[in-house]
Amino acid sequence: MKRVITYGSFDLFHEGHYNLLKRAKALGDYLIVGVTTEQYDESRGKLNIVDPLDRRIENVLNSGFADEVIVEDHPGQKVEDVQKYNIDIFTVGSDWQGAFDFLEQYCQVVYLERTKNISSTQMRERGHSIIRIGVIGSGRIAVRFVPEAKYVSGVLVNSVYNPHLGSAREFAAQFELDMATNVLEELWEEVDAVYIASPHETHYQYAREALEHDKHVLCEKPLAFSRREAEELFALAAERGKVLLEAIKTAYCPGFVQMLGIAKTGTIGRICDVEACFTRLTPPDLRERTDRKYGGAFTEFGSHTLLPIIKLLGPDYKDVRFDSILDENGIDLYTKASFRYENAMAMSKSGVGVKSEGQLLISGTKGYILAESPWWLTQYFEVRYEDPNKKDRYFSKFLGQGLRYEISDFVYMIHGHQGRSYKFTAEDSIAIAGVMEKFLEGRLHGGNMGAQGL
Ligand code: CTP
Repeated sequence: MKRVITYGSFDLFHEGHYNLLKRAKALGDYLIVGVTTEQYDESRGKLNIVDPLDRRIENVLNSGFADEVIVEDHPGQKVEDVQKYNIDIFTVGSDWQGAFDFLEQYCQVVYLERTKNISSTQMRERGHSIIRIGVIGSGRIAVRFVPEAKYVSGVLVNSVYNPHLGSAREFAAQFELDMATNVLEELWEEVDAVYIASPHETHYQYAREALEHDKHVLCEKPLAFSRREAEELFALAAERGKVLLEAIKTAYCPGFVQMLGIAKTGTIGRICDVEACFTRLTPPDLRERTDRKYGGAFTEFGSHTLLPIIKLLGPDYKDVRFDSILDENGIDLYTKASFRYENAMAMSKSGVGVKSEGQLLISGTKGYILAESPWWLTQYFEVRYEDPNKKDRYFSKFLGQGLRYEISDFVYMIHGHQGRSYKFTAEDSIAIAGVMEKFLEGRLHGGNMGAQGL
């Protein structure tokens, strides 16, 4: 009996998949089909899988050609499988020509001709028209967005807005965008969604206008500087049936999501303390160090450090206290925000003029999780226990600048799927805006602050 194996995502099952399975089965007597998990696909950069794993498996079984379906969830598995399942022939489509020749040491490798003019990628784009995105603000953050968006299928960044037309034009030329404008009305004509990367204090107003014009909004952090503003924006998004997502990229990256999952499984017992630190020394002439109202360490990096605190301990802290070291102009160079919860505590440390170890430490009654710097680009973390010899290590991929994950989830939600919205919810955004508000109130009234002048 000749045993054949093939693999794929089989997303939005189509004729090409059917033909491939039919011909794979015809190569032998028994066909095993490996279907990839979403997490595995994500780790190899395939970010837009639409169908959940169970539906993809069901579709493969419904084709009638598979005698057995297995799940593929890690690199190197093919080498294991061909030996484990005693495979005679490994086969895939000709788009992979040559990529699996290394399996020839175990079995025959056959590349079957791919069916022309059809693919899951095409189906995704056909099913939902391409989402045209306009960038609002063309500064330091925005330049990372356009190249990252290229990794997500179904989106096209086509335009840019900046009140300074010259800057918008420069940005459009750099990234070959169709349009640059300093008139918002012109932008609304061209796009289905916007990415807001303008100065912090303008986020709320742009987000509001975009939603009023029925555009989906992906907004850089912080989304808003008060709870009320954040609540208003989410209420407006719900009323208009649009997606509003705060772009805290760490929240959407696979390693961070896994770390939260492990922390919540009880491996380290009850979570008692979360300490997160993010510092980046910033030149004194930049906005972060000169904008007296909205600049400073906490407004700049607090969204990063508050993320694990709010995700792990929730929005219902009993109180928060801020201690800062201020620059001569009154802007915080370094801020510690200490939270008290019913049965836990947390600390956020952020700095633009003080350097510290950028680590995340989650302490529990049975052990702790340590993610060393840069924990916000989560690729590696450890779970440690009382016994120093016992240590669990977790690795995951963080591709490129990492913005592709939030863009991918944004697109997924625009298409009406809810499965990924748990990663960063409206409640999470609102809670963070509430903390920002408290911090700014303290700044206004001269409260909260510690030492002045370095
Ligand atoms: N396949 C094929 N003909 C097509 C599309 C896919 O023969 N038109 C084959 C692939 O070569 C692979 C299997 O079907 O052996 C599963 O492919 P998969 O990557 O799931 O499908 P694609 O449509 O190529 O997906 P995507 O567009 O997401 O890359």
